Amino acid sequence: SAAWLRYAPLPHDSSHSSLPSSIITLNSTRGSPVYTAQQELRRGIQGIFGKTLNNGTSSNQHGAIIVGTAQAYQKSYGEFDDAKELEEDGYFLSSESNQVLIIGQNERGALYGSFDYLSRLAQGKLGAVSYVSNPHASIRWTNEWDNMDGSIERGYAGPSIFFENGFVTDNVTRVAEYARLLASIRINGMIVNNVNANATLLSPRNINGLGRLADAMRPYGVQLGISLNFASPQTFGGLSTFDPLDPAVDAWWANITNQIYARVPDMAGYLVKANSEGQPGPLTYNRTLAEGANMFARAAKPHGGIVMFRAFVYDNHINESNWKADRANAAVEFFQDLDGKFDDNVVVQIKYGPIDFQVREPVSPLFSTLRNTSTAIELQVTQEYLGQQTHLVYLAPLWKEILEFDMKADNRSSKVKDIISGERFRRPLGGSAGVVNVGTNTTWLGSHLSMSNLYAYGLLAWDPALGAEELLQDWIRLTFGHDKKVIETVTEMSMKSWPAYENYTGNLGIQTLTDILYTHFGPNPATMDNNGWGQWTRADKFSIGMDRTVKNGTGNAGQYPSEVAKVYESIETTPDNLLLWFHHVNYTHRLKSGKTVIQHFYDSHYEGAATAQDLVEQWNSLEGRIDVERFEHVLFRQKYQAGHALVWRDSINQFYYNLSEIKDEAGRVGNH
Ligand code: GCU
Repeated sequence: SAAWLRYAPLPHDSSHSSLPSSIITLNSTRGSPVYTAQQELRRGIQGIFGKTLNNGTSSNQHGAIIVGTAQAYQKSYGEFDDAKELEEDGYFLSSESNQVLIIGQNERGALYGSFDYLSRLAQGKLGAVSYVSNPHASIRWTNEWDNMDGSIERGYAGPSIFFENGFVTDNVTRVAEYARLLASIRINGMIVNNVNANATLLSPRNINGLGRLADAMRPYGVQLGISLNFASPQTFGGLSTFDPLDPAVDAWWANITNQIYARVPDMAGYLVKANSEGQPGPLTYNRTLAEGANMFARAAKPHGGIVMFRAFVYDNHINESNWKADRANAAVEFFQDLDGKFDDNVVVQIKYGPIDFQVREPVSPLFSTLRNTSTAIELQVTQEYLGQQTHLVYLAPLWKEILEFDMKADNRSSKVKDIISGERFRRPLGGSAGVVNVGTNTTWLGSHLSMSNLYAYGLLAWDPALGAEELLQDWIRLTFGHDKKVIETVTEMSMKSWPAYENYTGNLGIQTLTDILYTHFGPNPATMDNNGWGQWTRADKFSIGMDRTVKNGTGNAGQYPSEVAKVYESIETTPDNLLLWFHHVNYTHRLKSGKTVIQHFYDSHYEGAATAQDLVEQWNSLEGRIDVERFEHVLFRQKYQAGHALVWRDSINQFYYNLSEIKDEAGRVGNH
């Protein structure tokens, strides 16, 4: 359960003598992040070097680590050059042999700097450094989809650490441990309950319970937030309505918000899923989504709270016989006319793609539609459609493609990462929300290897310029140690895992092809079509794909800024990996590779499944280099994945063979 915070002894300890021998903690009151930083530094240096730090005094800096805020530092030691460069939550770290300075812009920053320093030590990166690190965006949150009964929607690691039997749990030990993990990757907020929210969270007993959770998280600088159910004033508060423009409803939210802030004065804010998948919302009263969001914004504003309002709004009863119907159009259609109509403390939270966390999607066009509205990106650490932690899928490469994608709004560089930071459209707020869904399982996510995703998520939210492989290797060293073969092998396994999963599930932008009606697990391409969910493939005997062109299809390509729209509008310029997302073509259509669509399906399913077999061999080659418990735990999953990849390969290939009756050139697929 220590995940990447193991502080395991360094193998070759040459630098022990040049380590600091004491620690000077500035402005530290018990329970504050700087106090936590001091404890963490002692714990880490004890673990890594077996060395106990003494209490230093500010008059004797020799051989000391000094940790605190810039303000406190200046009080004791006078002017400090790098302070000017520090932004909110940022820190300055300088380490020269036994002199170490860790100065935060605020307390949280000092804690982040301490974790950074310890991470360097634990990885054996002992050289001198001196730099300022500032966050790319202010909102770096997780979303936990925990239900009040202790179950977790799309959680794969056991029951909730936050709730049981309808109430906030009494024992918050795991909550504090989780907050510690999150602080080490610079996450500063956590929504603790499911977006499909239950209004009983607002009972006096549960509000008090939220206070308990926030108290456990506060020493780590992680602020608590909650998801709200839009109909609460009626279903829970006893009003006759939940109309956002009714003054009684407004007053009810203001009052409940005051009650929560009385117990959690530093609450981060609210998350709201409205008029989506059966959830109540303002449209019931013919009010706009912005009017709905602003109701919460008004209540939260006096307390400095933020409202994350989800853009995941769509009609799940659309009709496939209409060639122009398209779920992917929904977000822009619902939100384009609302741009600029949200209060300043509202952030529209947008899933990275237009549908729903698929193995491959283009960027959501909404990121470039909203120019006068703050936005955040929603990513999924929990592998809902991606094997649910029984398959290894390292997701940082997928997230990087999305974050680095240039939407070219107004023909200017408009990378998604610069939109969500607020920079591109000059918005005051923005950032990332990652759906994590940890559980009581000691591995947190149900699988050791999937923790690289959580690690990378947090640090990419801080700095999206970091490399996927670089993050991965840091995580491997912290998790499994310094054995070169372990580092190389786990790197290789992880870096080929997303392409492999894409290969044996859904290719060419057709979506994941998993069961979309119930489990979201395992192959079931037949569930994609003939229902109102709109995750259609439109596969028939001759052809496949969604025609999202403007000239002949749903018009979705036209929701992107013109340069990008032009690329997706034409088959020739659309990248192969999104071909079937934007175009409806014959199975015999030739890709840029020269292969036909159907042959590409067959080949890549064989390729991906073969890679999954290799993963077992590769992991096996690490026997004896990793403790038995973790070795066996991962081996079990890799074997499962290898078997399941064959099931995927054969189901998908056979399905499209049955439809098209086109033989596999290599003679593997078909009726023998
Ligand atoms: C997906 C997921 C649901 C979830 C929804 C959401 O559809 O399967 O469980 O509630 O996304 O993000 O709101």
